[in-house]
Amino acid sequence: MLNSMTQRKEREELHSSPRTSLAAWKALLDLAREARSFSIREAFASDPRRFDRFHAQACGILLDYSKQAVTPAVMGQLFQLAGECDLAGWRTRMFGGVAINESENRAVLHTALRAPAGQTAMADGVNISPLIHDTLSRMKAFCEQVHTDKAFTSVVNIGIGGSDLGPHMANEALKPFADTELRTHYVSNVDAAHLYGVLKECDPARTLFIVTSKTFTTQETMTNAQSAKLWLQQELETADVAEHFAAVTQNTDKAEAFGIRRDRIFPIWDWVGGRYSLWSAVGLPLCLSVGYENFKALLEGAHAMDRHFLEAPFEKNLPVLLALTGMWNRTFLEHAVLALLPYSQLLHKFPSFIQQLDMESNGKSVDRDGTPVPYPTGPVIFGESGTNGQHAFYQLLHQGTTVVPCEFIAVVQSDYPSLDHQPKLLSHAIGQTKALMDGKADPDPQKRFDGNRPSSTLVLRHLDPYTLGALVALYEHKIFTQGVLWNLNSFDQWGVELGKKIAGQVLPSLSSEALSADTPDLDSSTRALVDAVRSFS
Ligand code: F6P
Repeated sequence: MLNSMTQRKEREELHSSPRTSLAAWKALLDLAREARSFSIREAFASDPRRFDRFHAQACGILLDYSKQAVTPAVMGQLFQLAGECDLAGWRTRMFGGVAINESENRAVLHTALRAPAGQTAMADGVNISPLIHDTLSRMKAFCEQVHTDKAFTSVVNIGIGGSDLGPHMANEALKPFADTELRTHYVSNVDAAHLYGVLKECDPARTLFIVTSKTFTTQETMTNAQSAKLWLQQELETADVAEHFAAVTQNTDKAEAFGIRRDRIFPIWDWVGGRYSLWSAVGLPLCLSVGYENFKALLEGAHAMDRHFLEAPFEKNLPVLLALTGMWNRTFLEHAVLALLPYSQLLHKFPSFIQQLDMESNGKSVDRDGTPVPYPTGPVIFGESGTNGQHAFYQLLHQGTTVVPCEFIAVVQSDYPSLDHQPKLLSHAIGQTKALMDGKADPDPQKRFDGNRPSSTLVLRHLDPYTLGALVALYEHKIFTQGVLWNLNSFDQWGVELGKKIAGQVLPSLSSEALSADTPDLDSSTRALVDAVRSFS
């Protein structure tokens, strides 16, 4: 570690960047060298006020970061760094509609989607608040109509990435609030097993498809939408299936060309990124499932977290604290992985949702100016709901050679007949944080736990729409804060393009008519894979 930190310092001196020349950055690198001998457990023993110092609470969420390998000096320098990186200025610019997504020349205004009516939000010189609230009114009217008419028993959202993960995760999380007479399904994968697996559970005469795609060009979504349309046409023996479709898109023309009625097309705008779009009409399937009032409560919770992020001092600011401790782990202590561990079955899709939110935002290696960054940025994120994860990969968390910082999420009140389930579940969450920190001395090396494995814990009173909204906004702002500190553009995603393009080149060569030899410029592995697919087909 000492050696690698020395090499790191040399590397950063050689390739200086706007961040590495900051005084706080340099101080943090020095503190990271000292952190080698830091014991979290001993820090608790020598400071009875450690929890008081290192926790904060807002919007029904408690954050305990006292089990991180931090000291008051480390936190002081991290706050200093946030100041030197002009976090407050970037925050004002984002909320103010400045085009901070520079590579796409776009404003980043998902926060405006959850602001109350009458609060001005400007994009390209236009107040977008009326557009947002007009769309919310349309969503409300549509939900009421669907609930009153009772024409549908199934809603199938067809979308992928940000057009799937947000509403899908939230729909799972808010199951206790869902209408039991209207079942919602989510189809994302271009693998036919996904679509046809869902269709098997649907009555064609009583199914509504929502095609959710900002661009209305995404291959997976368009393929699934076409197949769904064909299925309806065949099952209902009519070409006119418009009654069974709605769309959420920026590309109205393409949605209309697909056969979706204009009054069933809900807008999304270029100042909303896909992975930040849950709060827009992309939330329509969720809204249909849990009802408009619950959807509104979700927006209110997110807005409350926005206010907290804007107004609370950094020392008490949940997104800033989560971001800074994550930054300390990733960039200064060089822990490459982060485990996200919700102790709530209802949050079982939360790790996948955060994977896109975080890794598509900060999985980048050049800064805003296109210069390679000489420091580690976004971590690899994985996770699973507790206690299932305990019986799968926690062995590595406790005794593996890689230190994996963990973020635990504990939900106190259950919506289900609890008996003794809830105390058991929560005892595991709390117990794991302590076990990871304390470790265990044992003469038998197989049974020895080194401990000193850092974690933070978020405690939610109840997983209701308001608190879920606040939780998601907390993570959005955490990721934004880290992007500012790493000097990244967190709002583009050029890294997903190349694979799509090459798949497009490979596709024609997989058809039986194509000659394998026709495929241009393939290396021997790629050609052999193409040939294997052709011969197994
Ligand atoms: O492939 C990445 C991506 O562009 C995501 O950022 C986005 O959420 C997803 O594809 C879906 O895009 P669309 O909503 O345009 O179908």
